[in-house]
Amino acid sequence: MKKKLALAILLSGGGSNAQAIMDACRSGALDAKVRIVGADRLSAGGLDRAAAMGVDHFVVDYKGILQDTEASSVYPPPPDLDLGDVLKKQHLFPEDRASEEGCVSEKVRHFFMRRAAAERMLLDALLPFEPDLIVLAGFMRTLSPYFIDRMQQPGELPKIMNIHPALLPAFPGTDGYGDTFRHGCRVGGCTVHFVDYGEDSGPIVGQAAFPILPGDSLEDVKRRGLEEEWKLYPSCIQLYAEGRLVLENRPQRSGAVRRVVRVLS
Ligand code: GAR
Repeated sequence: MKKKLALAILLSGGGSNAQAIMDACRSGALDAKVRIVGADRLSAGGLDRAAAMGVDHFVVDYKGILQDTEASSVYPPPPDLDLGDVLKKQHLFPEDRASEEGCVSEKVRHFFMRRAAAERMLLDALLPFEPDLIVLAGFMRTLSPYFIDRMQQPGELPKIMNIHPALLPAFPGTDGYGDTFRHGCRVGGCTVHFVDYGEDSGPIVGQAAFPILPGDSLEDVKRRGLEEEWKLYPSCIQLYAEGRLVLENRPQRSGAVRRVVRVLS
């Protein structure tokens, strides 16, 4: 029998996407198994869903780790953190990227040191489960190059997927449906993409759109969007499981080259 894709899910909230993925695994619609679910906060409802499905789960308390100060460090940065390398690679603060470590602001340095401390704990919890794919399902934390580089090698097919509540590249950030609604869009949508060093900027795997009708409230948009997410995410993970996703370089008008996903038939 073909080996099932081993999934690790990270989440911050209610976990309806995690539920859809666990259900799809259980029904056989998805050739995958959720090995572990992790959250950045104890109050994440998705942890209860994992427990109810008999899936192992853990919490890394980001809040406490990010508040830690260097003077009284309870959670020191990991010994293998190369901060200069992370600062050069990151695209989360594009105006504050380093050609040399010394150039960036103290705030950005501190941000990535704290992230790495939390991300080391994530890795320690995740890696024993040997995930083939990390699935971000409402995980409201950006991942830094420290974490990403320990999950995937350059040139390999990426191993971290995210779902975003907007039709990227429009409305990246923390409130995709809210931004779509406030902008007055007539169409909303959701996007599954691979994670790169920027915010919601990685290669797009799949998208689903839905109409926004006159009289719709933000709650209507969120509800319709989530219903699309629950179908889209398992279908994109299934493409990954089937080995049908490849990356190719596509030149952009600016002259830059962008990595895009091609789906093999
Ligand atoms: C989903 O709408 C997902 O797209 C969004 O959080 C929600 C999680 O819902 N993710 C992001 O905004 C990531 N930046 P859920 O906990 O019910 O799956």
